[in-house]
Amino acid sequence: MTQALSELFELLRIPSVSADPAHNQDMKKAAGWLEAKLRSIGFNVEVVPTPNHPIVYAEKRLSDIAPTVLFYGHYDVQPPDPLVLWHTPPFEPTLRDGKIYARGSSDDKGQIFAHIAAVESLGDQLPVNVKFVIEGEEEVGFGNLVPWLEGNLARLKADVLVVSDSSMLAPGIPAITYALRGIALLEVRLQGSARDLHSGTYGGGAPNPIHAAATMIAKLKSQDGKIQIPGFYDKVRPLSEQERKLYHKLPFDAAEFAAAIGASAMPGEAGYSLLERIWARPSLDVNGIWGGYQGEGSKTVIPAKAGFKLSMRLVPDQDPEAIYALTKAYLEHILPAGYSLEILPHGVGKPVVTELDSAPMQAASRALEKAWGRKPVFNRMGGSVPIVADFQQLMNIPIVMMGFGLDDDNLHSPNEKFDLINFEKAIESSRNFLLEFAKTLR
Ligand code: BES
Ligand code: MN
Ligand code: MN
Repeated sequence: MTQALSELFELLRIPSVSADPAHNQDMKKAAGWLEAKLRSIGFNVEVVPTPNHPIVYAEKRLSDIAPTVLFYGHYDVQPPDPLVLWHTPPFEPTLRDGKIYARGSSDDKGQIFAHIAAVESLGDQLPVNVKFVIEGEEEVGFGNLVPWLEGNLARLKADVLVVSDSSMLAPGIPAITYALRGIALLEVRLQGSARDLHSGTYGGGAPNPIHAAATMIAKLKSQDGKIQIPGFYDKVRPLSEQERKLYHKLPFDAAEFAAAIGASAMPGEAGYSLLERIWARPSLDVNGIWGGYQGEGSKTVIPAKAGFKLSMRLVPDQDPEAIYALTKAYLEHILPAGYSLEILPHGVGKPVVTELDSAPMQAASRALEKAWGRKPVFNRMGGSVPIVADFQQLMNIPIVMMGFGLDDDNLHSPNEKFDLINFEKAIESSRNFLLEFAKTLR
């Protein structure tokens, strides 16, 4: 095992689950581990306390004239549940069939650590100033990083922001991602009667909030996949013909993509290809629905309460706050008579689109080509890293998103993995990038 891999294993062993307060000490431990590692390779490091989880900020300054690369990543991970579905425990990293199995291996410890390992491997050859911002609240979203960024713009000053928290197009096909979707999350709670009721004594005469929930959910999208919230599409930036052509040329097989998740069809908005729908069109999904009896056998009950959770993925130039307000108004409008409605916001994040042909992107393209033996594709992704839009607004510098994960990495799911070859090539790509980028500004 290489030194880089055994060090990554150390980091993966720390169960830094940001959503669960029981892991608050582990969050501190992970931040401390990064602090010690970065210090050992010559960085000045500050672990910044916040009301929730600490931010790790590090810089290695060569000179005032050298260009500066700022890396962003996150050391927090999603909860590992359900544990029984893991083949090996989530926080006991295991190398099996050329893959690193552990929670956080791909999202995002493996990817951010690859950059640390790349800087270390360059030693005295490092040609640029390097800064790291590694946060512990990405997976809970909407945390304490934005205010800290706002207060530290002068010291964060850099010539490019590099983010590796996304995926490649397919195994062996590197990608530079120029857009991510935003997000709006909310929960709907409905109540009919004051208590659960016997479905014989009251059935036919009492309100049933599960039916109300189903009625409302059915009104969110039309048969042809159009979201029915008035004004929802008003700010959606249309896909350019150039982009549509580009997507059609990508080595992407929709049938294979469906087969990989065990689905026989991939329903969605009419008039758009699968990639267009996932990358460049907004979407709406119910993420959970509850109410009534869910146990074994049957129970003749009319529940008093029911509810569901909604997420919407948003694209430029939709404003997540505005979309949240439109959604709330529409839900109030379609609420059937006889129910009380409570809507809880669970957060928003902005979509982002970057320039396509900045000099740093060209440098990244050459760096990836050297490492992988083929040119990267330029793509969008359906996932969200809301902080990237904040970096863009606050710092106004070029952004390079080069992710090294794969679609089948099981992010947020049992048996998360990161292919060993991807980890190794990520280190190589990052090294190449630092060297290439230094050339562009000379
Ligand atoms: N790294 C992911 C986002 C991602 C995954 C982007 C794959 C592109 C490809 C990130 O850690 C994540 O999970 N984001 C959340 C955001 C939410 C918690 C606000 C998401 O997209 O659900
Ligand atoms: Mn991530
Ligand atoms: Mn994630």
